[in-house]
Amino acid sequence: MSSIGIDAVEIWSGNLELDLTTTFADEKGDDPEKYAKGLGLHASSLPDAYEDIVTMGANAAQRLMDRKELAPEDVGRIDVATESSFDNSKPVSTYIAGCLEQVYDGDFHHANKGERKFACIAGTQSLNDAYNWIRAGRNRGRAALVVATDTALYARGDAGEATQGAGAIAMLVDEDPSLVALSPEQGYGSADETDFLKPNQQFPSVDGKRSIQVYLDRMLEAGQQFETQTSSVHPTDFAYIPFHTPFPGMVRKVALLGFRHTVRGTPMEEHLADDIGLQPRETEFDDRDAYEAAIRDYMDDLRQTDEYEGWYADRIEPTLALSRKVGNWYTGSVHIARVSALLDAYSAGKDLAGDHLLVGSYGSGAQAEMHAETVMDGWQNEIRQLTIDDQIADRHDLSFEEYEAIHDVHNYDKDVPRTRFTTPSSEFVFDGWGPMGERQYRFV
Ligand code: CAA
Repeated sequence: MSSIGIDAVEIWSGNLELDLTTTFADEKGDDPEKYAKGLGLHASSLPDAYEDIVTMGANAAQRLMDRKELAPEDVGRIDVATESSFDNSKPVSTYIAGCLEQVYDGDFHHANKGERKFACIAGTQSLNDAYNWIRAGRNRGRAALVVATDTALYARGDAGEATQGAGAIAMLVDEDPSLVALSPEQGYGSADETDFLKPNQQFPSVDGKRSIQVYLDRMLEAGQQFETQTSSVHPTDFAYIPFHTPFPGMVRKVALLGFRHTVRGTPMEEHLADDIGLQPRETEFDDRDAYEAAIRDYMDDLRQTDEYEGWYADRIEPTLALSRKVGNWYTGSVHIARVSALLDAYSAGKDLAGDHLLVGSYGSGAQAEMHAETVMDGWQNEIRQLTIDDQIADRHDLSFEEYEAIHDVHNYDKDVPRTRFTTPSSEFVFDGWGPMGERQYRFV
């Protein structure tokens, strides 16, 4: 059978921007370096008063359909991944299909629609569902539309407030894709965890420090299982390694862990040993605490080696470029990390076709997944058409008072005027509630 994967992507950023290193840091009395260097974030994209998960998802999907010259009958499946849903019954995909039907001839009545929930990993799960549907031959020549859309807002004053974000990415999954083909091999790391959850509440309850450890534990578990599916996994096998990026500082931690794990027992470990010794082995220690302390020391040395720094600069850092400017997009986060990498390769004039990516997805609660992707011949043509840099540049830069006002607009417990800061143009907008509490949308 031919390869299956992502044929094209389109991105829609929230139209507002909160600058973390100036506006937010000033208000909080924090050192801007905490955001720029520590978390690795410069700004968050936020939704204007007329934006939500439906408008951003529909806007990204419309761009994708226009660019790929698709009609509704070409799409056999619409899956929306989100952890910002506002309805426990009616899926967001029906709203997005309804929006698209306002602007296209035809309809999506024969497309299967659903909504995927498993925190941030749901976007990747939806990709996998689409892959499996096509692999099973049930698509009958049609493609799947996967939309990952979130308004990642935290309660004001929560430690997570600096990692907010809002945006959507629409991905077309098809046979013989132009962008990347997905590997059938996958590794999972999954456990019942309470690191981050929203038990019927809008804003998350987060155990921030623990969430970092759970992310690392599950990702290592997923990586170990992925290794059992393939002959070998070495960090230099992959042109880029996009990870779920709640904030770039998190990826700094997981990249070091992954590098240490995958070079263990390889000639690279021997080569590094000249400078920093071999990695500690648990059998050499009487107790676990002593072993862990030795591992921490080793990792402190490892991160400063030229080999690690060069690898990180080439294969990890470029995946973080968009995230630094838009914050956490939850379900879309790992997918914009992939786009960041491909934009980097495109602007550097690299020929990536046939190269591999290793993609590490994560959702709190908690589950990680790793799979590989092969970059396809048409990748440059797809990537060069993206407008995300212009969208980022065009955002309205909020003052702190404006930020508080827009946060209140999106807070379900507050009833405040829906004052907007930008003027929508050629996009779907939220247009109030209908008689059954349903949300209504129109194209302006
Ligand atoms: N200069 C340079 N660096 C500085 C600094 C300064 N002046 N001040 C602080 N830093 C560094 C800190 O050392 C720290 O880095 P390290 O972890 O590498 O040591 C980093 O900046 C952050 O500082 P704090 O730990 O003090 O920040 P915090 O406690 O205010 O918040 C957080 C951090 C707990 C992650 C918080 O942002 C949070 O709760 N975020 C939401 C949860 C989250 O994103 N978890 C990630 C894993 S879960 C997941 O991935 C799912 C998801 O999408 C939510």
